[in-house]
Amino acid sequence: MEPTTSRAAWDQAYARVESSLHAAGVADTADLPKLEEVRVRFLGRKGELTELLKSLKDLRLDDKRELGPKAQALKTALEAELAAAKDRLEEASDAQTLNEDAVDLTLPSLRPPRGRLHPLTTTLHSIAAVFQSMGYSWAEGPFIEDEYHNFSALNMPDDHPARDSQDTFYLDGVNRLLRTHTSNVQIRTLENHAAKGKPLRVVCPGRVFRHEQIDATHSAVFHQVEGLVVDRGVGFADLKGHLQASLERLLGAATKTRFRPSYFPFTEPSTEVDVKCFFCPGTGCPSCKHTGWIEILGAGVVNPKVLSCAGWDPEKWTGFAFGFGVERVAMLMHGVRDLRDFYTNDLRFLRQFDEDFV
Ligand code: DAH
Repeated sequence: MEPTTSRAAWDQAYARVESSLHAAGVADTADLPKLEEVRVRFLGRKGELTELLKSLKDLRLDDKRELGPKAQALKTALEAELAAAKDRLEEASDAQTLNEDAVDLTLPSLRPPRGRLHPLTTTLHSIAAVFQSMGYSWAEGPFIEDEYHNFSALNMPDDHPARDSQDTFYLDGVNRLLRTHTSNVQIRTLENHAAKGKPLRVVCPGRVFRHEQIDATHSAVFHQVEGLVVDRGVGFADLKGHLQASLERLLGAATKTRFRPSYFPFTEPSTEVDVKCFFCPGTGCPSCKHTGWIEILGAGVVNPKVLSCAGWDPEKWTGFAFGFGVERVAMLMHGVRDLRDFYTNDLRFLRQFDEDFV
């Protein structure tokens, strides 16, 4: 095919494009829309440089070979220049936005309300921590229990009157109930460890349920921490030592205690431990039911029948056990007179225990 454009005409066209490119001053373009105008003007479908490139096809073959790369180089250089200008303009516009929307990082933020552990939970943890420091480990058992583990294995057969004193929530028929104390965990722990034949020291913290009349010192759902030690030759003196030491750690070195003889079917001998009332100087007030003392736990030397029933030889092993009332301890630790305050979720009450709340 005959060439339709002469080399001289093409050279002129090239020179025109080059000079108008120069005049357009890509590198100094002031904003992004203007830059886009320049791009379209030279590289759009009908752009000046696009037309120049298209017109290459009308040249003679040897001119095409020589001038093609020259025109292509102009396009590559322009594209690089456009990209650099675009980067510069975008950066400048970001910087401007940041500057205009500046955030004052020194302004104090809104403080979201903080949660904290409930005072009963922290009391439970404190009791468990004191015993853990004395070598006890942690055990847990089910809330829904059978009669065997809650009663029978604790030396309370079917018709035993002690069952009546623990008003029980039965679930279905008679064999499933909400545990009335954490002593069920004693039995489960004894059963699980019988085959190992090694001494035991455990605390079992947890929730218990009784069909109680609710008042300032009683609730239908409350918490206990059960303790159990089984070893060779341990007895009442060890029990007394462990309890006295732990109460002093929990409530203060000056804590006065009183061990009263008592009765539990699963311990022999049995005792109930009172702490001198913190609310009155021992002279009597409503919190101590005018006795000067507050009962906080039951305890005793494990009845040999309980040991043998759970697979331990009472000729070789002896043990002692105790059950703390966690609410009672919390009342003494925090000077709370009415146990119901722990359950009503009144934030004014609960916030007193929040370290950050002034
Ligand atoms: N389980 C008893 C109660 O709920 C408390 C108790 C007494 C636990 C003597 C014991 C114990 O482990 O040895 O009233």
